[in-house]
Amino acid sequence: MAKIEKIVLSYSGGLDTSIILKWLQETYGCEVVTFTADLGQGEELEPARAKAEMSGVKDIRIIDLREEFVSDFVFPMLRANALYEGQYLLGSSIARPLIAKHLVGIAREVGAHAIAHGATGKGNDQVRFELAVNALDPSIKIIAPWRQWNIRSRMQLLEYAEKHHIPVPSDKRGEAPFSIDANLLHTSTEGKILENPAEVAPDHVYQRTVDPVDAPDTPEIITIGFERGDPVSVNGKSMTPAPLLTELNGLGGRHGIGRLDLVENRFIGMKSRGIYETPGGTILLTAHRGIESITLDRAAAHLKDEIMPRYAELIYNGFWFAPEREMLQALIDQSQTFVSGEVTLRLYKGSASVISRASPLSLYSADLVTFEESAIAYDHHDAEGFIRLNGLRLRSWAARNGR
Ligand code: ARG
Repeated sequence: MAKIEKIVLSYSGGLDTSIILKWLQETYGCEVVTFTADLGQGEELEPARAKAEMSGVKDIRIIDLREEFVSDFVFPMLRANALYEGQYLLGSSIARPLIAKHLVGIAREVGAHAIAHGATGKGNDQVRFELAVNALDPSIKIIAPWRQWNIRSRMQLLEYAEKHHIPVPSDKRGEAPFSIDANLLHTSTEGKILENPAEVAPDHVYQRTVDPVDAPDTPEIITIGFERGDPVSVNGKSMTPAPLLTELNGLGGRHGIGRLDLVENRFIGMKSRGIYETPGGTILLTAHRGIESITLDRAAAHLKDEIMPRYAELIYNGFWFAPEREMLQALIDQSQTFVSGEVTLRLYKGSASVISRASPLSLYSADLVTFEESAIAYDHHDAEGFIRLNGLRLRSWAARNGR
């Protein structure tokens, strides 16, 4: 085996990756470059720098990826109305290919031939990181300490930390924290008591949304502007992607929108239970469907809905940089050409509901659909023939069955 000279580590500064940093330095005896992405996780990133410095890291990369995350990953995904297993907005899944892309970029820049990540051997994230790296640069070796070392549990991890004087964080209540993954799109919480799906999630699990019961008693009305399928303004104020999602996260969080308690099927083969909070994303999904309802042709809309589960599964399973995802993306993007206009929603106690929608490119015709007298040429007799022909085979079928 060729000796590894330099490793780029995906480093959050949290307990796991601090231990991994130490372990890599000891195991490989080589330089480790740390990469910390600011994805809007709402955490100070300077402590990560300080910790890396203390561990002797010379090359510390902290990069603000919020705008790229939302404009090049979250928004393209929202154009598809993507939901995994009908409910999950894919907040962790969509962040992994972006992190992998930058890991590869840094590795090339500093001449490293290996990348390390802190995802465990049981989850989806290891698959997502590694499939993305495979697709972007097959020459890069991947080190997944969780699959290599003989630490097998959180308990053993804590022992290792103690032995190496690595500070162990605790949550506000002095307990070991949940496994949390947060970014501008969502917060995902797993582990501890949540591992029993029969157990109700305690209140303190929730990080960025209020309980809908405690949300304001007065509804809030907001308007979101869309251009070619992407949100571009809130209440008439133009915003770039990251600030726009940040704004909607604030509004959604205050009204208790976007909580989800889900048991999902991991790609690796097991079921897992997690709590998701996706306040802004939930508002955007509802709003996007609202603007599509008047701007998309029926067949185009239905085709989108047919491929959506497939597209969502590709993202969930880590195939963002695969040809079939890009093919589906081209289809989805083309469908958005006329998806422009404004949607007004009411935010109220955990729900975001569309209350009106308008577009200069609308396909909706009040003249056509009206119950009143209309000037548009529509011959009611056509409907009679339409139904007679559609019913032809049903009449044959019923006659044969002796109904
Ligand atoms: N189960 C989710 C997914 O696979 C979230 C994974 C990361 N979350 C965490 N709390 N560690 O997309």
